[in-house]
Amino acid sequence: MIRKCLFPVAGYGTRFLPATKSMPKEMLPIVNRPLVQYGVEEAMDAGLHEIGFVTGRGKRAIEDHFDTNYELEHQISGTSKEEYLQSIRHVIENGSFSFTRQREMKGLGHAILTGERLIGYEPCGVILADDFCIGEGGKGVMAQLVEIYRRTGKSVVAIEEVPDEDVSKFGVIAGEEIEPGLYQVNDMVEKPAKEDAPSNMAIIGRYVLTPDIFNILRYTKPGKGGEIQITDALLEQARRGDVLAYKFKGKRFDCGSVDGYVQATNYVYENFYCKDNDQVTHV
Ligand code: G1P
Repeated sequence: MIRKCLFPVAGYGTRFLPATKSMPKEMLPIVNRPLVQYGVEEAMDAGLHEIGFVTGRGKRAIEDHFDTNYELEHQISGTSKEEYLQSIRHVIENGSFSFTRQREMKGLGHAILTGERLIGYEPCGVILADDFCIGEGGKGVMAQLVEIYRRTGKSVVAIEEVPDEDVSKFGVIAGEEIEPGLYQVNDMVEKPAKEDAPSNMAIIGRYVLTPDIFNILRYTKPGKGGEIQITDALLEQARRGDVLAYKFKGKRFDCGSVDGYVQATNYVYENFYCKDNDQVTHV
């Protein structure tokens, strides 16, 4: 049974300064919903309703977003503006939201290990909200991974082919295709140089992790950039044959970069924005 999803949201978002000086980068809007809300909706569509956030200093706006704002509710109650709150109300009513703080930035692996207290000894999804994903045919990327996890009981990472010159921005896998689009992973490298990359199949910010990952992370040494890398911990599982990689069906935008963010905004505006009620329909 998988029911929890972790959101590491402690990072700074320096590429969006000054906008992110006092506002979390995960609260940047794609049209009129914040990035993190799309991520939470994707988790819930996959059946993961217990949401855990690993936050940091300056991230309190995320907590407030997933809570009732009584003053605002009171102000707009009974007016036509009430429907603007419909999507977030639905999320709040259907989920539970827990928070813990990462005090030091020691990498994604460290952030996930910090989230252990919210997850316990259970499998969980992990979503990096600034990788904004739109699943094909309305099926979100996390739902695609969860389906594979349910079938196999293994950790699953979402992958996408990227141009050779971009491999150094990602964790990269190598593996054997066991079903169309599904790979048994036998190697993983965090942000390799182009000439050292085992393939051009890049990990994107969607994972399903089996619970033993926490024990592995506890003794995973700092890797690339001096940080504790989830890629290194997953390699440990992969050596036992316990990691799958799935070429997800859909689109991904790197909303950690200005280019990706603007492209995502245009795409959502053109495809999902309804001018009649100023709202984005469910992506
Ligand atoms: C992290 C992971 C990397 C993965 C990427 C996906 O890197 O460490 O393996 O490919 O997310 O977005 P970051 O972008 O946080 O540096």
